[in-house]
Amino acid sequence: MNDKPQPKTGRSSASPAERPLVTIARVLLPAGRDLLVERFELREGGLDSTRKEVLALAPGAAALVADPTVPVDAELLDTCGTGLKLVANFAVGYDNIDLAACRERDVLVTNTPDVLTEATAELALALTLAAARRMSDAERDLRAGRWTGWDPAAYRGIEITGSTVGVIGMGRIGTRFAALAHGLGAEIVYSGPSRKPEAESELGARHLLVEELLERADIVSLHAPASDETRGMIGRHQLDLIGPEGLLVNTSRGPLVDPDALADALEAGTLGAAGLDVYPNEPEVPPRLLEAPRCVLLPHIGSATVRSRDGMARAVADNVIEVLEGREPVSRVA
Ligand code: DGY
Repeated sequence: MNDKPQPKTGRSSASPAERPLVTIARVLLPAGRDLLVERFELREGGLDSTRKEVLALAPGAAALVADPTVPVDAELLDTCGTGLKLVANFAVGYDNIDLAACRERDVLVTNTPDVLTEATAELALALTLAAARRMSDAERDLRAGRWTGWDPAAYRGIEITGSTVGVIGMGRIGTRFAALAHGLGAEIVYSGPSRKPEAESELGARHLLVEELLERADIVSLHAPASDETRGMIGRHQLDLIGPEGLLVNTSRGPLVDPDALADALEAGTLGAAGLDVYPNEPEVPPRLLEAPRCVLLPHIGSATVRSRDGMARAVADNVIEVLEGREPVSRVA
């Protein structure tokens, strides 16, 4: 985009002046955009929108559509102006949004829960299997011509069946992941601020303190949001507790894990393996992790199925429509 973005605008037959402005900081998929363009004036950025460009698109917005890569802070809210009613995040996580700043300005905040639960839980399971069976190392060797034939000692991993899977953050996605792992024959332990009676009765899940879980589980999967309490929650000590036979999977948010401690543990063999979909400062991937052994890395694709991403786009649009037409949003977080 140029320094001064030429906003893409969407119009129906009604006069644009009569219709509230919705600023889409980056992109909204057609499944949601088509619903908005019929009703509102749209001003849209692009996947490569810079902060400066997003600020230029903001003035006059009645609703702002953001996503996890768009920091929504006091400056952006004030640039939108006093007519801003809603920040609709195109994600279930909303750690990119300053909720206090929104509340101070009477701006509602919504997210997109439920529609991505299956996709993200399945991706966590895929990462678990890939890390447990050293698939990245094995495929890299094969593609590089280093495979010299069947070797009984090579690439030996662990099986989910019969293992103990520890879920940190037993919300919707964590619970679904636990059910999938349970279906493969794993014992489930979990930690989080509240007990989950249904998961306890249906999956036989046991609630443990985080340290107990890390000691007990063979596989640890993170499903907690990024917050002051969870940032850096997996560092050297915690990785030691998971241990040389253990596995860490993170499909939640990058800041939960200390990447240097993780690279050290993988290099030293004090952690068995890791599967990551998220990083502290995306799209940067800590260079040491790119080189680390027994480490599967994906580019934040947890919710990347057609059904899930279209559902998220529709959820964004539904929230915008409800609020701008004077009703309660479907999934309000603040
Ligand atoms: C979310 O929804 O929070 C994911 O990280 C993006 O799909």
